[in-house]
Amino acid sequence: MSHELEQLRDTALGEISAAPDEQSLEAARVGYLGKSGSISVWGERMRGLSKEEKPIVGKLLNEARTAVAAAIEQRAAEFRASAETAALANIDITLPGQPAEIGGLHPLTQMLDRAISIFRRMGFALAEGPDVDTEWYCFDALNTAPDHPARNEQDTFYLPDGRLLRTHTSTVQIRTMMSAPPPIRVIAPGAAYRRDEVDATHSAQFHQIEGLYVDEKVSVADLKGTIEFFLRELLGQQTEIRFRPHYFPFTEPSFEFDVRSKAIKGGKWLELAGCGMVHPAVFEEVNRARGDDAYDPEKYTGFAFGLGMDRLAMLLFDIPDIRYFAQNDLRFLRQFA
Ligand code: PHE
Repeated sequence: MSHELEQLRDTALGEISAAPDEQSLEAARVGYLGKSGSISVWGERMRGLSKEEKPIVGKLLNEARTAVAAAIEQRAAEFRASAETAALANIDITLPGQPAEIGGLHPLTQMLDRAISIFRRMGFALAEGPDVDTEWYCFDALNTAPDHPARNEQDTFYLPDGRLLRTHTSTVQIRTMMSAPPPIRVIAPGAAYRRDEVDATHSAQFHQIEGLYVDEKVSVADLKGTIEFFLRELLGQQTEIRFRPHYFPFTEPSFEFDVRSKAIKGGKWLELAGCGMVHPAVFEEVNRARGDDAYDPEKYTGFAFGLGMDRLAMLLFDIPDIRYFAQNDLRFLRQFA
């Protein structure tokens, strides 16, 4: 006749494989293997057994425990599997799926990324400033008189609180100099805003890369060399570059420069940027606001430039209308993804 433990084990196995749900399975587990379960209590009972009986019963007890625990795990797995099947039963796998769309970078972002990587190779760090800024950062600190036409309400978007949408990224020149002493070598890509009449080549929002390099003995030659290296990397070694004298309140001397390149359709000169040597009055205002003499105009010189990115991107990617950039039309954007 089989031992009581073997009978117990067989009853347990029968009960487990017949358990209708997880609750009854858990009840069976507690009833057999729990602290005072009918199999577990044999552990206590062993103490009262004779030397001869102990190993036999010990072996039976181990076997019973292992078998019952395995059966419980197997039944639990069955429950889990059928729960999954039930969940899947509600899904019609014959329906067409929803393909996940993979996005792409906006053509202006691609343009900026290319430009940024060239400047990074020349040691320029990235700087940034807010699109909404104060008159001081946008104009006063940049030596722009209160009656300068650029400050006109017809040209600039003013907020009710007196702040404005920056009309150029030159605000970041000032922000950078306020935050650190020279030497400074940064570029600041970003949006700028003007109340232009919107048409195929003018948008109220456009994009610039500002550059600022301040150190001892920085000269116009450094400015030209930097710009030429940048443009030849971007547009090819045959690119022609032309500097023309210009006027900006915050640089002296000031220039605009144009490019002509095979990469640009039509073979025409393209006006690309304003630039110049940082005006000493800008350094002086920065010093006054900093409360120190970090940007001593007797010791330091610097160059700055503001490159227009939209028209460059339009020419490189053959985009006929600047308004496409902001319309979020996937038929347009997909062509660059
Ligand atoms: N901020 C000027 C503009 O937007 C460009 C510029 C930048 C000129 C830096 C000189 C130096 O037209």
